[in-house]
Amino acid sequence: MDSNSIVLNVNGIEVIYNHVILVLKGVSLQVPEGGIVALLGGNGAGKTTTLRAISNLLRAERGEVTKGSIELRGERIENLSPAELVQRGVVQVMEGRHCFAHLSIEENLMTGSYTRRDKGEIAANLEKVYTYFPRLKTRRTSQAAYTSGGEQQMCAIGRALMTNPSIVLLDEPSMGLAPQIVDEVFHIVKDLNTKEKVTFLLAEQNTNMALKYADYGYIMESGRIVMDGNAHDLANNSDVKEFYLGVGGEGRKSFRDVKSYKRRKRWLA
Ligand SMILES: Nc1ncnc2c1ncn2[C@@H]1O[C@H](COP(=O)(O)OP(=O)(O)OP(=O)(O)O)[C@@H](O)[C@H]1O
Ligand SMILES: [Mg+2]
Repeated sequence: MDSNSIVLNVNGIEVIYNHVILVLKGVSLQVPEGGIVALLGGNGAGKTTTLRAISNLLRAERGEVTKGSIELRGERIENLSPAELVQRGVVQVMEGRHCFAHLSIEENLMTGSYTRRDKGEIAANLEKVYTYFPRLKTRRTSQAAYTSGGEQQMCAIGRALMTNPSIVLLDEPSMGLAPQIVDEVFHIVKDLNTKEKVTFLLAEQNTNMALKYADYGYIMESGRIVMDGNAHDLANNSDVKEFYLGVGGEGRKSFRDVKSYKRRKRWLA
C-alpha cells in the first residue's frame, strides 16, 4: 500500500475499559483513500471497540486507548473529540442504527448537518442523500419509529453523510436485517464509495456480504487481528471459510447463529 494513499492508520492500539479490562491487545490496520475495508470477527472480538477508539466515542463507555497511535492522513488524532473528528471528516454510524425515534426521517438527516452553517450546501447535501436513498425521500415525513429496520439503517447512514465525511466508520449495517435489504444497503455503500469517493471502514459479522463489497479485510479475534488480506483472497481462504463462514467443520455452528443466540440471551436478561 502506497503510504500517501492511507487515510487512516491505526498502529498497535490497546484499549482498556473501566481501568482494568484489556479489550484490544495491539490492533493495527490501515484504510486506503477511496477504499472499503472490512473489519470482521465474531461476537465480542473487538470490532466496535476499534471503531469507537477511532471516532473517540470510547470515553462515553469508560474506555480509553492506553497504547499505540491513530493517524488521519499522517496526523495524530487520538486526542481529538468526536465533534472535532467529524469536522475533519471522520464519522461513525453506530451499531443498532440509533435514529431519533420521535423525529421524522428528514429531521433525523438534518441532525447530521449540525457542524455546518451554509444552508444552500446543506440543502444540496440532503438532495444528494435522497438520490442515493430514494426510500428515505419517500419516507421523509414519517416518524423514524414507524419505518422499517432497513429504512432506519439507511437513515443512520444518510445522517452520517450529512456531515460531508471523507471516511465513514460503519458498525454492523447488516444487523437484524433481511438478506435482501442487507444487499440493498451494501449496494448503496458501494455506490457512495465509487461515485462520491467516500472511504468506508466497515465492522461486520456477516463475513460473506462484507467480503463481497469490500476491497480488503481484517479478521479479529479476542482483541487481535488474526488475519488480513484482499477481500477476494479472504473469501476463498479455507480457514476463513471454515471458521467464519460456517461451512465445513462437523457440527460447528455458524457464528451468525452464535451471535443471535447471545443477542437473544441479552434481550431476555
Ligand atoms: N463498555 C464496556 N465495558 C466493558 N467491557 C466492554 C464494554 N464494551 C465492550 N466490552 C467488551 O469488549 C469486548 C469487545 O467488545 P466489542 O463490542 O468491541 O466486540 P464486537 O466485535 O463489536 O462484537 P459484536 O459483533 O457482538 O458487536 C467484549 O469482550 C465486550 O464484552
Ligand atoms: Mg460490535
